[in-house]
Formats: sequence, structure tokens, C-alpha cells
Amino acid sequence: MISADLILRGAGQVITCTGTSGGDAALAPIPDGAVAVREGSIVWVGPEADLDRSVELLPGGEVIDAAGGLVAPGYVDAHTHVVFAGDRAREFSLRCAGASYQELLAAGGGILATVRATRAASEEELVQGAAQRLARLLSEGVTTCEVKSGYGLTVADELKMLRAVRALGRVQPIGLVGTALPLHALPPDAGDRSAWIERMLSELLPVVVEEGLARFVDVFVEKGAFTPDEARQVAKAAKAHGLGVRLHVDQLTAGGGAELAAELGAATADHLEEITPAGIEAMAAAGVTATLLPVSTLYLKCPRYAPGRALADAGVRLALGSNCNPGSAMSESYSLALSLACLGNGLSAAEAFYAATAGGAAALGLEDRGQIAPGRRADLVVHGASSVEHLAWHMAASHARVVVIGGRVVHRADHLPARCG
Ligand code: NIG
Repeated sequence: MISADLILRGAGQVITCTGTSGGDAALAPIPDGAVAVREGSIVWVGPEADLDRSVELLPGGEVIDAAGGLVAPGYVDAHTHVVFAGDRAREFSLRCAGASYQELLAAGGGILATVRATRAASEEELVQGAAQRLARLLSEGVTTCEVKSGYGLTVADELKMLRAVRALGRVQPIGLVGTALPLHALPPDAGDRSAWIERMLSELLPVVVEEGLARFVDVFVEKGAFTPDEARQVAKAAKAHGLGVRLHVDQLTAGGGAELAAELGAATADHLEEITPAGIEAMAAAGVTATLLPVSTLYLKCPRYAPGRALADAGVRLALGSNCNPGSAMSESYSLALSLACLGNGLSAAEAFYAATAGGAAALGLEDRGQIAPGRRADLVVHGASSVEHLAWHMAASHARVVVIGGRVVHRADHLPARCG
């Protein structure tokens, strides 16, 4: 008998995401399944019919009835900028009236507007703002979230942002992975461009490593932002500090970014709306994960979505991000991202769901989560839905009735229907 302090039973399906590829079989569902947890880890998963003869509930343990809904791994949101201050509502209206994202940045707005507000904010104010965004993500079933800096753009302000991420890890339950993004935009007070880059790398990264503030370093490679050569310089410094590399590439213009990610052995290449067939081939050959960010494709009215279908068919591993940020995706709706991964990126619901869970965990180097299997962290969500297809179909609405992180119930929405559809 296996002892458990938490049991989730009554699931119409347990979606384990333990298959090997991102295709439909990868969800490896267990119909009428159950999951048992002890001390924050999954200790058993199987058909409910086997539960009572396999698992005993410890005194004081808790049982959650999924009432015919789905039990699934928590979502791993693989790309966000949830730490920021200020708002860009006026910019939104200007873009709706025809101004472009790049024009606004070139005129000192866009990312640079958020930089001014973020520099003026205290670490505590950043924590308070981001905590509200994370609470919304949690209510959607997000249990792990990557968070970038990139709105400080001085060594001190980038550190303030990353320390805010660390503080958020202590005051709210979502597991956080920090990414340093010092090359997000060149600030007007940078002075000499190459000296500024050199300073950001030589002064920021050692402190990031010493304080354990980030796993990755990221660069926005784009016309009007940073060049492939500058990204090469960052990747070299990141590797010297034992940090992984991620890149924002091929978002607004085709710049050979996917090929660059392959050349640099990046963990992920993110956005990719303008990737070319050669870029897809290069990413597949180099094993770079593609992070799809379809909410920003919609929000920026980009002419096309990243070709998720072609990437999946080429064997590129996929992750999915909300990209929650004030400029290109002011939304915490991970449900919207999931549906757009199907509608825009061309994935099946199963592929999108796998990218949203196991794919994201793998992209962030988190082998302990993203799947339901003995030994994994008990980051689990009870969705009031009959299938993963239902989750993709019923867009931009949370279905998460119960969210468990590390074996602890951290969110309940009992008013949601137990088994829609
Ligand atoms: O991932 N593309 C660059 N960075 C963010 C947007 C940041 C902003 O506009 O504030 C992104 O879309």
C-alpha cells in the first residue's frame, strides 16, 4: 500500500502528458483515473478502479473529487514579463488607430515607457503589481511561470526587477523561473552602445549568478533593438556564467533569428512569426525549443502567426507562453494562448496542451514537473471540462476549479461547472 496525504479522484480523465512526442498520443490519458500525492510529490497515478487497493489516505489527508472533470499537470507559462510598472493603455489606442509597435519604440515610447515607470517604482511596488498578475494566471491553472527582467536597463534596475521575482517566489505560490533580459531596448541614457552592453554583461551577470536570480539570459533580436552579433556577445557571456540562452527572434521581421538560436545552442527561440523554412530546419537540427506566443501575434496585429504546424511537423519541441506584458500582450489569459495556439499556430488541442505543460517544463529545464507520474512535483489542476479539446474550444475562460502546487491546494473556484461539455 502506498500512503498519501492528498488524493484526487473522480476524474473523467487524468491527462498525464507522459508520451514522448508532442502529438495527440503524448497526452497519455487515463480514463476514469486518480492521482495520489505525499509530501508534495506524486506517488501514484492510475485507474480509479485500482485506487483503493493501491493507496491508503493518511489520517488528516484530503480527498478532492474531480466530479468527472480533467485532472492535468499545471500549466507552465514559458515566457512572461509580468514584473513591470505603469500602463500603456494610450499606446494601445494609438496602435489601434494605426501607429506601429516599432514606431512607438523609436519615438521613445513602447518598451521605453515601461522602463521609465519601472525605474521609478520600488521593488515592493513591482512585487505588488506582479502578484496581482500572477494571481490571475494561477486562477487559469498556471503553476510555473518564467519571468523576465528587461524594463530596468541599468544594472541596479535590472537587479531590482530580478529581486522582485525572487521576492514573488516567497509571497505567492506559482513556481517562478527568472530570466535576465538586459538587452531588451537601448535606453536613451545608455551613452556609448557597446560600452553599455559590455557594462550590462560584466556588472549584471556576476550578481545574477551570485544571488541565483536567473537561469537564462535573453536578448530581443530585431531591427531597432539588438543585432545578431550583439546576441552572440550575450550568449558568450551567459555561457561563461553557466546561464542558458533564450532569444526573442523573428517576431516583427525575418532576421535569421531561428538560425542564430541554433548556432548559439539556445534553449529556446521565442515568437518566430517570421521564421523561414531554413530556420525551422536549423532549429530542428539543433534541438532548440520554439516558444509560441500567439497572444502577442494577435495583440500586435502581426500579419501571420508563427508556423506551429510546420515546426511540430519538423520535430521541433514546442512550449507556450502567455507573454503577459504591458506592450504586446496585456493579458493573463493562458486559456486564450491555448486556443490561439490552435487557431493561429495550427496545432491540435493535444499538441497545444502538451506545449503548455510538458513542453514548457522541458524548455525551462524543469524535469520535476509538467507531467503526472510518480516522483514529479504535485502541480495539478482540476479543470471543469470533459476533454483537452474542450479547453481549447472554450476560449479565454478559466476552467480551473482546483489548483494544487507542491501538494497544497492554492486556488479553488467551486462556482465553475464540474464537467462542461
Ligand atoms: O516579448 N518583443 C519584445 N518584448 C516583449 C514586449 C515588451 C513590451 O512591449 O513591453 C515581447 O513581446
